[in-house]
Formats: sequence, C-alpha cells, structure tokens
Amino acid sequence: MTTDSRVAIIGLGYVGLPLALALVEAGIDVVGIDANASRVAELSDGRSPIDDITDDRLAAALARGLRVVAPDAADLAAADVVIVCVPTPIDRAKDPDLSPVVAAAEVIRPALRPGQLIILQSTTYPGTTSGPFREVLERSGLRAGADFDLAFAPERVNPGDPASAAKSVPRLVGGTTPQATARAATLLGHINDRVIGLSSPDAAELAKLLENVFRNVNIAFVNQLALLCERMGIDVWEVIDAAATKPFGFMRFTPGPGVGGHCIPVDPYYLAWRAREFDFVDRFVELAGDINLAMPRHVVDLVAEALNDRGRALNGARVAIIGVAFKPDVRDARNSPAAEVIAGLAARGGQVGYHDPHVATFRSADGVELRSEPLDGLVAAADVVAVLVAHRSIDWDALYDSADLVVDTVDTSRDRSVRPRQVLRLGAGWATGVAAPVG
Ligand SMILES: NC(=O)c1ccc[n+]([C@@H]2O[C@H](COP(=O)([O-])OP(=O)(O)OC[C@H]3O[C@@H](n4cnc5c(N)ncnc54)[C@H](O)[C@@H]3O)[C@@H](O)[C@H]2O)c1
Repeated sequence: MTTDSRVAIIGLGYVGLPLALALVEAGIDVVGIDANASRVAELSDGRSPIDDITDDRLAAALARGLRVVAPDAADLAAADVVIVCVPTPIDRAKDPDLSPVVAAAEVIRPALRPGQLIILQSTTYPGTTSGPFREVLERSGLRAGADFDLAFAPERVNPGDPASAAKSVPRLVGGTTPQATARAATLLGHINDRVIGLSSPDAAELAKLLENVFRNVNIAFVNQLALLCERMGIDVWEVIDAAATKPFGFMRFTPGPGVGGHCIPVDPYYLAWRAREFDFVDRFVELAGDINLAMPRHVVDLVAEALNDRGRALNGARVAIIGVAFKPDVRDARNSPAAEVIAGLAARGGQVGYHDPHVATFRSADGVELRSEPLDGLVAAADVVAVLVAHRSIDWDALYDSADLVVDTVDTSRDRSVRPRQVLRLGAGWATGVAAPVG
C-alpha cells in the first residue's frame, strides 16, 4: 500500500477547508487550491470565512505548513492524493450543474500522473465519479484502476454543528477498484475513526443522496402536517414533541418557512434527474420539493392573514423579517427560504426590512439587496414581524415584549407570555399565551 503523505484539496469552502485542517492536524502535508482569488487571499491571511473554523485554528494550520494557492499544475502533480470539494449546484430548471466538478477534473488532467489517487467528495448523482468525472481525467491518456486510483467519498459535515465534524462520525468511501477503496479508506482513517468501504463509487454517491433526500422528505412531511394542523386547530409543535417522546422508531423533524443551504434544497434533484435517465420518476423527491418550495408562499399568506386580523392590508405595511440565514446560528444564507419570503411580501406591496445578527447583507429572490437593520428600531417601526430563523443570540423575550404583531414560523413564541392575537404561529394558529401542559 502506498504511503500517501501529500494531499491537494480543490475547493476550500464549507467542506474542503475543514477537511484540509483535519488532515494538516493529522500530520499530512496539504496544499489547498481554490479558483476564487479572494478566497485564496483571505485564507492565506488567516481569515476564516466559515463559522465552525476559528481564525486561530486556521492560523495554526498555516503555521504547520498548510499552503493555500490558486490552481497550479506543479502542486497537483506533486500530490499523492487530490480531493475535489467543489460545489454541485442545480440550474434554474433544477437540473444538476456539474460544471464545477468537470472544471476541477480539467484542472487535474494535465497534472495527472501514474500512481495518484483522485477522490471526488462533492455530493452528486450515482454515476458521476465513474462517468463524466472519470472521462475527463482519462483524456490524459491514463486509465482509472490501471494507472491511477479513483474513488468517491461523501462528506457528512453539518455547518453550525461541531459534532458533525468529529472524528467519531463514520465516513463512506467507494472506489472504482478494491485497491482505490482501501487506499482512500487508509487516508481518511487518519481523520475518521471508522471508514466504511462500499463496492463502488455509485453506491457511495447514492448513500449520500439517501441521507439528504431522507431529510428533505421528512421535512416536507411535517410541513404538510403543519398546514393540516392549522386547519384542524391543533398545535403541530406540541404534536411533534409528543411523538418525539417515543424512544424508538421516530425521528424529530420540524416545520418552517422552507428549506435552504447547499444540500437539502439541491441534492434531491440530483437523484430525480438521474432517475429520469432510467425512465423512473422519483415521486418522493418531486412531492417533497413541491411542498417545501410552497412554504415561503404560505408564510407570505400568514403575514397577510395576521395583518388582516388587524384590519390592515399587506400592501403598504412595514414587515420586519427576523433571520435570513438558512438555519439558526450560521452566516450561510445560500438558498435561504427568506429570499422567496421577502420577494413574495414585496410583490404584494409590503415594505420589508430584516435583522440577522449573522448576515450583514442579503439578496432577495427579486434581486433586491437589503442590509441588516438594528433589531430594536426595526421591530418598533414594524406593523408585523415575521420570525424565520431562531438564532440563539436574539433576545426573544425582549422581542415578544416589544413587537405588536408577530408571525412565528419556527416556534420561538411557545411558552412565552404573549398577548391575545399578538402571535400567529405556523402550524398552530393564534398563540393563546397560555403555556401548554407539560409532564
Ligand atoms: N456545505 C455543506 O454543509 C455540505 C455538506 C456535505 C456535502 N457538501 C457538498 O460538498 C460540496 C462542496 O460544498 P461547499 O459547501 O463546501 O461549497 P462552497 O461553495 O462553500 O466551496 C466550494 C469552493 O470551491 C471553489 N471552487 C469552485 N470551483 C472550483 C474549481 N473548478 N477549482 C477550484 N476551486 C473551485 C469555490 O471558489 C469555493 O471556495 C458540494 O457538492 C456540497 O453539496 C456540502
């Protein structure tokens, strides 16, 4: 077995940067490569763009020899292993856009040399590693399995949750040959206690999609239940908490204004697209997408309903949005449902401002760029406040004390003393201000 001591990582974002640091901390020689010049500059200066990575940890890795560079053939050729962590977005029609993956393979190809191991880590549909990714690499004249090793090893990090980056989280890996699987597993074994080898890259690619489609489908399921609960006059949050007391066979998912981030609103479409190539319609993916994509519109309707209760129209009303990140306590606002909520409110004449302690500027789906406003002034001036993200750093007691009218989409109001018809809750209707029984 080769001793792989020099690793090049292409793409230093939410996935590539933590990987680079973990490998450096395990004593491996790492060069990080990114096509974005400003990303290279900030990382080289020791400034981390990611919540979970402190500047101190980055500086320590730089001091231990981590280099951050623009794409460079000499660095790639010198590496024993190249790991690709570039984005895998979807286009406007929600079809996979593999251009960053293909571009990364194009960067590797001229530097590819016999004996290297190439690992794709970007989330993608089954057949990518052994299909388009391999085809670009093999245009070098070298053959996967014969001249170089090729594997897929999905990432499980969950931004904002340090436990997800722990060594104890098992890793999956599937190579195009048993040797590639074993070699990638040995490398990843430096940073993960348990690495599970699969029979092929396709199986590893699909396992990653299964994990994320599972989340998307279950979130859609509780979102739909929330809509039903509004009609039935039942509190969906109480129901979910009750069901979650079952110690087996149930996993807690919660409703909200929609899904966001790089993974959950994107990855399922990779599976749906690939399924169509096999004359197969993945109805779960399509249905879950349908339900989750409709949630921002429902939030707009709730805001209009709340104002209507006061005899007010949304048209001309001042709406304060609290939280535009895609989930609590992170600065990542990619694909945030807030973009559609804000654009939907504005389209119906709402005058929208937002506050988010983690996101200084935010572009809504209609292309309008907004700047985070101080919380107190925003709430005081608002006709209605719509809470989209439950950031822990917000003083929720103070918010509910001062806000006149609130639409709460993420259960920040339960068990607080609120005034009658002050708070309209997604999945529950008007809050009574009376704490639910516990025990
Ligand atoms: N963000 C997550 O929580 C998460 C979790 C698991 C898996 N993933 C998957 O990991 C992959 C990367 O996601 P991310 O969130 O780290 O993306 P990101 O946007 O944070 O980072 C990607 C980086 O790649 C760089 N890049 C793009 N094309 C390049 C190229 N051709 N050459 C060199 N650099 C290039 C970009 O400049 C950027 O810095 C995606 O497939 C994603 O689905 C993400």
